[in-house]
Amino acid sequence: MIKVKIVGVGSYLPEKVINNFDLEKMVDTTDEWITERTGIKERRIVREDQATSDLCYEAAIKALAMAELKPGDIDIIIVATSTPDTVYPSTACWLQKKLKTKGQGAFDVSAGCSGFLYAFLLAGTLIESKVAKKILVCGGEVMSKVVNWEDRATCVLFGDGAGACVVVESNGESGILSVNLGADGSLAELLYQPAGGTRMPASEKTVKEKLHYVHMKGREVFKHAVIWMGRAAEKALKDANLSIDDIKLFIPHQANMRIIKTTNERTKIPEEKTFIILHKYGNMSAATIPVALDEAYRSGRIKDGDLILMSAFGTGFTWAGMVYKW
Ligand code: ACO
Repeated sequence: MIKVKIVGVGSYLPEKVINNFDLEKMVDTTDEWITERTGIKERRIVREDQATSDLCYEAAIKALAMAELKPGDIDIIIVATSTPDTVYPSTACWLQKKLKTKGQGAFDVSAGCSGFLYAFLLAGTLIESKVAKKILVCGGEVMSKVVNWEDRATCVLFGDGAGACVVVESNGESGILSVNLGADGSLAELLYQPAGGTRMPASEKTVKEKLHYVHMKGREVFKHAVIWMGRAAEKALKDANLSIDDIKLFIPHQANMRIIKTTNERTKIPEEKTFIILHKYGNMSAATIPVALDEAYRSGRIKDGDLILMSAFGTGFTWAGMVYKW
């Protein structure tokens, strides 16, 4: 066991709601198509002046309040995101500035929708190896600024939001019981943002060709997602010597209800143990799992000692599975 304890959770969703009927007025789509194919009914969208660190800030303030800590008490700030405020510095540094603290380590983790589980594991190992005592781990995304609002195949899928956890050393009662990480970079081009990095720096041409937006081969992504979401969850259970009967709650990454249902069928995870927020928020990439953790905890679905199974899949491709004892 990696002895870590989540002592604070928080989340933030922008106020503006765009539902499927609003999207009907923007692109050639219908509420029926979106609901049937994805399970999404509405999503939250940031104000023009909001960036990822602003969302993480609001989530972090709530997590810190629950942990009864001040920003200055934190030793390391980690933000999992694929939609950073700027290419550099990291969103974690912008968050640190907003939290009006300095000195502690701050960096981002880029692992797409699996980013929060990668970052949480990293926080656990940094605490276990005595590099830090208290870590703030956020997952935040502003997907609405990187989707092409004229492309019905992608714009209906995503939403904005952030979740945060404060993680400290545990006395052995709580911790990560098992974890697995994976990636397959050979499939990177199935889901990526082509321009804006050093491969294809921003230019008039890249803007004109809309290469700063999400490019996705949805059907291909779907095929790999159902395989790896299930395998990562099954491996996490097996490595912890547990069965699904031992698990209180399954928190999957939430991109599409059909991906979650197929994962549940393959792994025999019952629907009633699966915590769903997708219908309200769409796919918030790295923010999905921490927002779900916050909502599950605050609604009483998670209590001390409960075993939580989490599994994620995203751009890269990356995937991760974890069993955490709350
Ligand atoms: N409204 C109406 N019609 C649409 C829309 C829309 N919003 N989007 C696509 N269509 C049309 C297509 O043009 C196509 O029409 P055609 O048959 O005339 O060519 C038809 O619907 C079927 O399109 P497909 O892409 O084959 O539809 P599919 O059933 O695969 O569903 C979807 C598409 C929802 C994107 C699905 O493939 C999916 O969820 N893939 C996973 C992608 C994902 O979740 N990515 C997020 C990041 S990775 C992660 O988080 C797991």
